[in-house]
Amino acid sequence: MSTFQQQLYRDLLSSALALLDRDAPPVSNMANISAFIRFSLPEINWAGFYLLNNGVLMLGPFCGQPACLRIPLGKGVCGTAAAKDQTVVVPDVHAFPGHIACDSASSSEIVIPLHMNGAVIGVLDIDSPVFSRFSDTEKEFFEEIAGALEATIAFDHLQYSLC
Ligand code: SME
Repeated sequence: MSTFQQQLYRDLLSSALALLDRDAPPVSNMANISAFIRFSLPEINWAGFYLLNNGVLMLGPFCGQPACLRIPLGKGVCGTAAAKDQTVVVPDVHAFPGHIACDSASSSEIVIPLHMNGAVIGVLDIDSPVFSRFSDTEKEFFEEIAGALEATIAFDHLQYSLC
C-alpha cells in the first residue's frame, strides 16, 4: 500500500471516529457509520448492522437496498462471523456456502463482529459489487471502526433497546 493510501485510510478513520457520539443511542451511531462507509469509500453497495435479538441477527441501521430481516446464528456470512466471533472476508460471495443474497449487486463481502462486555451483540456487514474488494488493510480499518463503535456502547445505553 502506498503512503498516499495509508494517509487516505488514516483520514477516513478520523472522519468515521469523529461521527461517533458517546451520548447518542447506539442505533444513531450505527446509522451514521453505515452511511459513512457506504458513501465515503468507492465500490460499496451496502453497509449496515445486524443485531442479536433472542439468538437471531435482526436487521439494524443500514445504508443500501432493503435487506433480509433475520439471519440465524451460523447462517450466511453474517451468522458465520457472529457464531465464530471472527471477521469473515469473502472475496466471491457466490463461492461462499450458504451465502444469503440480499442485494444481487453484491460480489464480495466483509463481516465484523461487534461486542459488548466481551460478548457478541451483532455484526457490521459491508458488501461490494466488485470481487475481492476487501484487503487486509480494509479489514483492519473496519475492525478499528467497529472497536470505536463498541467503546460508545456503554452500559447505560442499554436503556435504548439495541434491537
Ligand atoms: N450476505 C449476508 C446477508 C446480509 S446482506 O449482505 C445485506 C449474509 O450472507 O449473511
